[in-house]
Amino acid sequence: MTIFSLTEAELRQRRSLKWRTYDSDVLPLWVAEMDAAVQPAVRAELDAALDRGDTGYPWGTEYADAYRASAATRWGLELDPTQVRRGGDVMNEVLCVLETVTNPGDGIVITAPVYPPFWQVTSGYRRHTVAVDLTPEGRLDLAALERAFAADDVTAFLLCSPHNPTGTVHTADELAAVAALCSAHGVRLVVDEIHAWLVDPGTTFVPVLSLPEARDAVVAISAGKAWNLAAFKAGLYVGGEGALNLLDHLPPLATQSTGHLGALAHAAALRHEQAWVDQMCVEVAANKQLLSDLLHALLPSAEYRPGPGTYLAFVDCTALGLANPARHFEQVGKVAFSPGRAFSPAHDQWVRINLATSPAIITQAVERMAASLRQPNN
Ligand SMILES: Cc1ncc(COP(=O)(O)O)c(C=O)c1O
Repeated sequence: MTIFSLTEAELRQRRSLKWRTYDSDVLPLWVAEMDAAVQPAVRAELDAALDRGDTGYPWGTEYADAYRASAATRWGLELDPTQVRRGGDVMNEVLCVLETVTNPGDGIVITAPVYPPFWQVTSGYRRHTVAVDLTPEGRLDLAALERAFAADDVTAFLLCSPHNPTGTVHTADELAAVAALCSAHGVRLVVDEIHAWLVDPGTTFVPVLSLPEARDAVVAISAGKAWNLAAFKAGLYVGGEGALNLLDHLPPLATQSTGHLGALAHAAALRHEQAWVDQMCVEVAANKQLLSDLLHALLPSAEYRPGPGTYLAFVDCTALGLANPARHFEQVGKVAFSPGRAFSPAHDQWVRINLATSPAIITQAVERMAASLRQPNN
């Protein structure tokens, strides 16, 4: 069974953001939706719920329990039931946690380039963003982070692990060091682990809460990214042993915005579709290699260093000499990527390519990129 086998014609029937935003002559490889069919167990769970007319409010801890079981089996992370609470989607969870642990006027550290809503959630709610660049290799810059944490008004660090868009998978040493720095400076560590299951075969994801240094950390997570369930809003807050009090004091509605069908779908994915995500990661790793080979052959001056996490590729187009690469590829090449500047102002020459799609679509996308460079108006 191949997961990424849907054709462009099939995908164009969809009515979600990825396939509807652009005109039908543009090939979309932008927002993080997967071009995959729904997993059989998730479909069966949803079908059964709809057959029952079971469209009310969520109940119980089925989703949290399924996550705890997955974390124990996959990463050896044993969590007590009190450490896991239901939430809405991951970004709303991040917002609720940041509103709880920071005050208006505080600074919140993020590591750039990073998923664009990280900028919005830190600057849009009367807090300000303190952006610390990743190193050129995409790793955490511990010295720069320590300098940022030392500022009096900095009270939280929002980390993306694995990192979108670079695909960096932070090591246990890096995470332990950053957690220790947070503790030393009274900075709350908040980690978005939505990409946790999405690592290339042979790469180990380290959940931050497996590290003793991170006992005060809070994690926002869901099965939404790894099993493509963004349509079914349901997330989880996971607190370290030192963060249980925080979980008890989240804003009143923070733990009440889970969709019932979302909780059922995410729980079914976690319980029954672990092999699906493993197969998907094999295909994504092959897609990373394919993109690398295609760029090497057709656009050798574009620079792509595949990261082992996520299904996203962050490509440096500086040497192509385009004023605005993402706009050029969309308007001239008819292929849509996420513009690098949304991830950090310094990355306006980069594009993020979504590789959760078929090799045929990736091939067509790179061919369109290359053809666009041969246009006379380029
Ligand atoms: C790092 C990260 N966090 C959160 C999200 C969105 O999650 P949700 O829809 O649950 O808010 C995404 C989506 O791509 C993401 O990459």
